[in-house]
Order: sequence, then structure tokens, then C-alpha cells
Amino acid sequence: MKTDKLLDGRAFAKKVIDKYERKISKLKAKPVLAVILVDKDPASHLYVRLKEQACQRAGIIMEKYFFKKTTTSKLLSLIRHLNSSRKVKGILVQLPLPRGIDKAKVLREIIPEKDVDFLNPNTLGQILYDDEAGPCTPKGIVKLLYEYKIKVAGKNVCIINNSDLVGRPLALMLMKRNATVTVCHTKTKNLYDYTKKADIIISATGNPGLVKGRHVKRGVVAIDIGIKKIDEKIYGDIDFKSVSKKASFITPVPGGVGPVTIAMLVENMFEASKK
Ligand code: GUN
Repeated sequence: MKTDKLLDGRAFAKKVIDKYERKISKLKAKPVLAVILVDKDPASHLYVRLKEQACQRAGIIMEKYFFKKTTTSKLLSLIRHLNSSRKVKGILVQLPLPRGIDKAKVLREIIPEKDVDFLNPNTLGQILYDDEAGPCTPKGIVKLLYEYKIKVAGKNVCIINNSDLVGRPLALMLMKRNATVTVCHTKTKNLYDYTKKADIIISATGNPGLVKGRHVKRGVVAIDIGIKKIDEKIYGDIDFKSVSKKASFITPVPGGVGPVTIAMLVENMFEASKK
């Protein structure tokens, strides 16, 4: 496969983090990111470790608030305390939260100035107007496309995911940039009718090999956010072997959107530090 087809998320993320490392070194104090993690889900712990490594490289201090078990009201009072701290510039609640915790209530408690993940609905609304606003994964995808000069205006984009973390904000962000967006999900009938028409496919389902070469048109841009670990190996949603033969651009898994998501957290932290 020609390497000029690869959307190299690792290289782009490094460029972004290097840029913010320079900017953050000029701030009066190192900004602090408070990360709240409930549960012992190994994937969430891995994501937070990767976020911590990126923060360390950029000069951001991560304060960790890890709980095996807690309650909504304890989380709310912790967030209120962090909201009023002068040194804490960003607050991130790693998702998913365990059942029994009121996710919407918890996320709404983070003040918009410190909501570096854009998960409070009051913060999320900014994506309708502000090009720099956005949750880390959708923002990372938009910036990765821009980095490779892939135009979205007038393109048919098929997103396979309708979550609050990815599909719904991403659809709005691409719509704002004049893409024609279709959002597919588990209840979509005849998924491949949509993928076959798409100029850009963005998939985040966790079903390895969901999208194969026969489901896409020639020249497609294929962005894979699906992650499934099978026998210590990570698989995406998009069958790399068959789709890469037809694609004009494709993300590898791993090394595609994942590192860019983390770089966007660094970017959002820098923006929050200025507030
Ligand atoms: N869980 C999986 N991805 C994310 C993310 O981008 N932010 C948060 N807070 N939790 C996640």
C-alpha cells in the first residue's frame, strides 16, 4: 500500500503536542488538568495513561481522582471544588461512568470554562458557532482531514455512530463545514446503501471488519475510530486490506484517530488555561 494514502495520526499528534509544549512553556504556571475516573475498566485506565503521557510532554500537570466506587453526590461536590480551584484549568470525567451514576448531572456540573472535553451540553452548544470548539475525538477528525487538505464541503459523509461523544457532535461540526452528512447507527436499515454513496466514511462501532472493500466506492476517505481488542491485537471497523485498495486516504488502527484525540485534549487544555 502506498504510504501517501495513510492519514498518519501519530505524526500529526506529535506536531500538535510540540506546538502546545512551546506555548504552554510560556505560561506563568503549568496548567492543571483534573481527571475523574470511576470504575476499574482497563480500557479507561489505558486511555487516561495515554492522556497523562501526552500532558506530561506538553507541560500539563494531571491530577487524578480515581474511585473504585462512588456516588453522584460525591462526584458533584468534587466537581464543585475543582470548579472553584484557581490552579485547576480543566476538568475531565472519563466515560463511561458505571451504572448508578447520573452521567448527565455529573457532566452538567463542570463549568464551561473548564470543560476541556465539551461534554456539558452548555459547552457543547458552542460547536454550532465556534470552529475551535469541540469534543476531542470529533475535533481531531476535523483537524486531521484539514491537515491532509481533504475538503469536506459538498462531500457525502457517512458517519457510523450516533453517540454523544462522537457521532452527534461530529455531524454538526461537518454540517457547519458544508458537508452532506448521513448518520447511521445500530437501527439503520441497509447500512451499505449509505456507505457505497459516501465520499468520506467515519466509523466508530467496535465491530471489526464492518466496512469492507465491496461496501465503499473508489477514492473513498476511510476514517476508523472503532477499537476492538482480540487476543492482544487491536482491530478497527474498517477492513484495512480490502478498503485500502480503493481508498484515496485511510487511517491505520492503531495510530490513526486515537493519538489525535489526545492531542486535542492538550489543545483544549491550552485554550482553557487562557480563560
Ligand atoms: N471515553 C472514551 N473516549 C472518551 C473521551 O474522549 N472523553 C471522555 N471523557 N471519555 C471518553
